[in-house]
Amino acid sequence: MAQRESWATRAGFILAAVGSAVGLGNIWRFPYQVGEYGGAAFLVVYLLLVALIGFPVMLVEFTIGRRTERNPVGALKQIGEGAWTKVGWVFVLAGFVILSYYSVVAGWILRYTAIGLQGNYAAGGAGAQFMSVAGGMDSVVTHAIFMAAIVTVVAFGIQQGIEFSVKLMVPAIIALLIGLAVYAGTLSGAGEAYAYYLSPDLGTIAANWTEILPAAAAQAFFTLSLGMGVMITYASYLGEDRNLAKDGTIIVALDTAIAFTAGLVAFPVLYTAELTDVAAGPSFIFVSLAQAFSNIPFGGIIGAIFFAIVTIAALSSAISIMEVVVSYLIDEHGVDRLPATIALGVVIFVVGLPVAYEPEGLNWLVVYDGFANSILLILGGLLLAIYIGWVATDLGIEELGKGIHNLGSWGMVWIWTLRVPVIIVLLIVLTQNTIGYYESLVGIFG
Ligand code: PHE
Repeated sequence: MAQRESWATRAGFILAAVGSAVGLGNIWRFPYQVGEYGGAAFLVVYLLLVALIGFPVMLVEFTIGRRTERNPVGALKQIGEGAWTKVGWVFVLAGFVILSYYSVVAGWILRYTAIGLQGNYAAGGAGAQFMSVAGGMDSVVTHAIFMAAIVTVVAFGIQQGIEFSVKLMVPAIIALLIGLAVYAGTLSGAGEAYAYYLSPDLGTIAANWTEILPAAAAQAFFTLSLGMGVMITYASYLGEDRNLAKDGTIIVALDTAIAFTAGLVAFPVLYTAELTDVAAGPSFIFVSLAQAFSNIPFGGIIGAIFFAIVTIAALSSAISIMEVVVSYLIDEHGVDRLPATIALGVVIFVVGLPVAYEPEGLNWLVVYDGFANSILLILGGLLLAIYIGWVATDLGIEELGKGIHNLGSWGMVWIWTLRVPVIIVLLIVLTQNTIGYYESLVGIFG
């Protein structure tokens, strides 16, 4: 086997992982989930799940990746036995599905950046504007442009492609987003928005937890890029001297802080515009937020900056998904990086075409996103938690211990967190989400 490339610097790995984590999940999905599931109540449950479920599962992926120095399929083939050797396929499947619609949505966001620069967010006709951007040939073209950008970065490899680009992208995302949050704080609706976003009502959580919990868990996994082998793949380029727990803490904290900050931008803008009718779900930032931008001072340019941030964030995530499948073709089938990347770009582009072409009620988006995000990622994470928690415990602890001087009993604390709370919560969530997904399919096709 060829010598594997590795990250040039420690910051390179952390920024790549943060770049993967920070994406549409934080800035497109997070605000509408908060809106859908009770404002601050959702925020609290999400934060809890990030710490309790997300962080331990991230460490699972890190340990498996660094130990095997492989893509997720090869990694489980190498260390697993029996059926475990096949688990990596869940990740590759999830990668295909996620990247295919991710690129479509990112294409719309790119378009909205341009619309803002021209000062053209439609005040009255925001819904119609979105429909024209999000369907037909326009949407196919922006999907193609975005996919070409992904292919270009990943074709350059780990150091010159991914590491180089995230070192520009991640600081840009952070700086611009903080700037917008400060601006949003000066808007007239800020006070009301903060009250909605930041003061949780425990009654709401108690009354709706069967809905909030699965949604918040899926959100936590999606936003941290878990359950899809990204963190396995990125950690496979990592040296043994690194403290995985420390790096994981930084990554989780930054991702969470950025999602939180996105809310500090979105809600004040929304409250200031005093819209009478707020679109829920995936069209939230395109319809309601875009319309709100048309109502506030400097809205065109502020909106353009906002959508530019989301575009950059989407790119830094999309490259990580592509890297999972590319590294699989390179490791397992000996394909060269360039042809592997181009071929996958074309195939995944085609898989995404239904989502791009047919926006009617965003049905295909719901079908793809629900399957990948609410089922495959949770399933992938659950299987990994069972594997390290109950099957390959020693391997996990030994690998985590490298680069940590005094792991002590923390290794067992981690294992027991996986064994009981993580597995139970993920089982509940998987069941709920599968039922919910089935119902939404019946709603669409039935
Ligand atoms: N974490 C990314 C986001 O928040 C999405 C993602 C999911 C990336 C799974 C890789 C794997 O947008």
